[in-house]
Amino acid sequence: MVQIFLDTASLKEVEELSQWGIADGVTTNQKIFLQEGGVDFRKRVVDICNVVKGPVSVETTKHGVQELLQEAREYATWHKNVVVKVAMYGNGSGLRVVSQLTREGIKTNMTCMMTFNQLVLATKAGATYVSLFYNRSKEAGENPAQIVKDYVAFAKENGYASRLIVGSIRTVEDVSTAIAAGAHIMTIPTKILLQMPFNQRSEDTIKEFDDAWEKFLAMRQVEAKPISR
Ligand code: E4P
Repeated sequence: MVQIFLDTASLKEVEELSQWGIADGVTTNQKIFLQEGGVDFRKRVVDICNVVKGPVSVETTKHGVQELLQEAREYATWHKNVVVKVAMYGNGSGLRVVSQLTREGIKTNMTCMMTFNQLVLATKAGATYVSLFYNRSKEAGENPAQIVKDYVAFAKENGYASRLIVGSIRTVEDVSTAIAAGAHIMTIPTKILLQMPFNQRSEDTIKEFDDAWEKFLAMRQVEAKPISR
């Protein structure tokens, strides 16, 4: 069953969308936090963890293996549901960090990935989650729907437990295409999630049924009237 994560750091959005019964976790990054203005970073992460009751990805911001490890270990103390996001740096330092954190039992989400090969490396390094950036990958000339299909088959065939998160979602069609391709998890921005329950034909159908019900109730009132003499 596909899981849905909320791609937001807004506590209000997490609180509201959690009530839909569809939110299995949350993902954040530096750009997402920028939209929250000057909030207390740690407090917001913990507040989100206390609402969503699932993994909450928090991205490392430092550079260099030791600095990243230090930051990741600190995040991991904030809440049991924190998952540390580490970027797929071109020099392999992110892989070293993920590999070490895995040995320490810290859950990781390897992020900023555009290609199948990057996903494979992150998986082999032990990442709990591997994040494919759907639209950024497409903009880089890749075929992200095919990457999703290939990765899901690769992970299954080889018995890897890493879960594929598909992020960088811009339209409701991206969501359905990636789910159909086999994505384990979709992380969806609030703007897109809010569009997903809506379909004009559903709205028209609900209106048609409401109108029929009004007529039905009016008919019963006529029937219930006492016979006048
Ligand atoms: C989620 O983990 C990603 O950080 C996010 O989906 C990236 O989205 P963007 O490409 O819109 O920045």
